[in-house]
Amino acid sequence: MSASMYDEAVHTLRTNDQGGYTVPTAGLYPYQWNWDSAFAALGFARFDKDRAWREVETLFEAQWPDGMVPHIVFRVDEPTYFPGPTVWQANLGPLPSSGITQPPVAGSIVRHLAPTSEDRAQALLPHIDAWHRWFHAARDPEGFGVIAITHPWESGRDNLPNWDRPGDAIDTSGVGEYQRRDTAMVDPDQRPKKADYDRYLALIQVGVERNWDRDAVAAETPFFVADVGTTAILLRAERDLLAMAEEFGGIDPQPIRERIARMEVGFERLWNPDIRAYCSLDLRTGELAETASSASFLAWYAGIDAHHEELLGELKRYTDATNFAVPSFDPHHTLFNSVRYWRGPVWAMMNWMIAQGLADVGQHDWYERIRSDTLALIEKSGFAEYFDPGDGGACGGDTFTWTAAIWLAWSET
Ligand code: DGY
Repeated sequence: MSASMYDEAVHTLRTNDQGGYTVPTAGLYPYQWNWDSAFAALGFARFDKDRAWREVETLFEAQWPDGMVPHIVFRVDEPTYFPGPTVWQANLGPLPSSGITQPPVAGSIVRHLAPTSEDRAQALLPHIDAWHRWFHAARDPEGFGVIAITHPWESGRDNLPNWDRPGDAIDTSGVGEYQRRDTAMVDPDQRPKKADYDRYLALIQVGVERNWDRDAVAAETPFFVADVGTTAILLRAERDLLAMAEEFGGIDPQPIRERIARMEVGFERLWNPDIRAYCSLDLRTGELAETASSASFLAWYAGIDAHHEELLGELKRYTDATNFAVPSFDPHHTLFNSVRYWRGPVWAMMNWMIAQGLADVGQHDWYERIRSDTLALIEKSGFAEYFDPGDGGACGGDTFTWTAAIWLAWSET
């Protein structure tokens, strides 16, 4: 690991730091994003523990009274981003924000930080607990043990092909004209298409029309899909929350145990025996996705090891077809695209989570393969938002916070 890469990674985080919160990258994403912030904290932890804590604390400053932590916090008005706060009209929290959430990585990152400040961890526990309870109430109202998303952005994996078919149910006729900003900053071939954006905006309208009432959205939105990624990340975060509750006290561990037990059972609903992988499940139609994605390999991260060999086989099928692990979508599928955002490219923070899970079940060769591929991608192409799994080229935005953070987290081992 070269010293200059370390310096550049630190510089990337410092440059994106707005004073208490970090933008994913200036221009393209000029606000505080939820899971980006969690990974930013992981990166700051390498060289500035206080700043790492601050990142998570500022994220929770935006928590809604019902427990939701929004996916974007709009502390300032930035004309370079669309759709901004006036489109979302989500005024239910203490700070201007979007009306949806994002994968709850933060609880697991707080456990990572906890040895450096028990007091700061303890202060955050009730807030993390409230957010997790919100997921179960708002995104699993029937108690299936799997967590739904109400918007592709809620998964963080925006234009994953798995959302195409459930998205057919979204009526985009009322969306009207709008001007995207992202395609002025990034090659449009690397971003979602207009048809995807029409759906994203139509789903914002669904929320606005219901004043972001969580129960009305869950009951009435046309897009309600149990996401294997969000479910796995929440299950992992619940286990981390339980460990902290048992160690530090302050919140009741018993309801957390019950939630974990329900999710362990529920997770099996996502097993697709035809393709031998965990998949997302359209809760409106009851249809399992016909294709896995990189999030399927988060089962180990979630502490689920029920179909170990079959899932490893699917991972091998993915990685045998590409030069760099782990493509975000099945590289054998006709919808695979090596540069278009979540339809194929490699994402460093997904690799970090997938590899953690593999290490947990003793798959150290796999851990090392994914770690070294990730570091090789970054050495080759810099702190890009995501990477082409074929030639390793940089895609999306540059000087990206979570890519620098994963470099910092991984280059210390
Ligand atoms: C975007 O604007 O592309 C984001 O992914 C939304 O969260």
